[in-house]
Amino acid sequence: MKILGIDIGGSALKGAPVDIKTGRLLAERFRVETPEVVTPAAMAKIVAEIARHFKWRGPIGIGFPGVIHGSRILTSANLHPKFIGCDGGKLFAKATGCPVTLTNDAAAAALAEMRFGAGRGFKGKTLLLTLGTGIGSSLCYHGMVVPCEFGHLQVHGKSAEYFVSASARKRRDLSWHKWGTELGEYIRTLEQMLWPELIIIGGGVSAKSRKFFKYVKPRARMVPAKFLNEAGIVGAALSIGRHD
Ligand code: BGC
Repeated sequence: MKILGIDIGGSALKGAPVDIKTGRLLAERFRVETPEVVTPAAMAKIVAEIARHFKWRGPIGIGFPGVIHGSRILTSANLHPKFIGCDGGKLFAKATGCPVTLTNDAAAAALAEMRFGAGRGFKGKTLLLTLGTGIGSSLCYHGMVVPCEFGHLQVHGKSAEYFVSASARKRRDLSWHKWGTELGEYIRTLEQMLWPELIIIGGGVSAKSRKFFKYVKPRARMVPAKFLNEAGIVGAALSIGRHD
């Protein structure tokens, strides 16, 4: 079965049709930069442009960087505040004319990694973190994926993602060593509460795991996401029918 997966991110929207039996992209992904200030209406136009690019007329799964209850968006830490309270499922379905399932972006990434990627076949407690503009998080256990918001763990009165997301490394101009060490402190704090057996690191920076994994020193086994930055697209497609 083919589903159009779209990953809405702080820096870009990416989409591609996905074969949900194999987790493979069926066409080259289409990427549109996220404009600096983008209202829900403007975002809906970009989502419609992606659907048009693939001449799409079927179900669409969308990963969104915020808390989703049902199809409603409850938080928007790195996008326009107007998304808060908006029924994203309805908005994007109206814009594309297609049925839409909306899910948290990190939950989408976790669905892809646990089904086809770095966590394939593993049933034990797994923490997936996506390091990008923010920090996305999900807990996985015996095939269940639970969206979480560990990026907003409070550190010095701010969300942890403000200090240790991938974009924070660039903004703070940190070396891999310094950033990896701070990321390690954050991850060990999470481990203290969650005790995962496996930690999967996703987001664009996971392609550079050799540069910083050695400084993190978690208790659990830690691996880069297999889909690297594409987990969001594949997982968004897999989320069809799911309700967060
Ligand atoms: C949001 C999460 C999202 C993460 C990664 C955070 O700021 O609150 O919902 O998963 O960023 O995009």
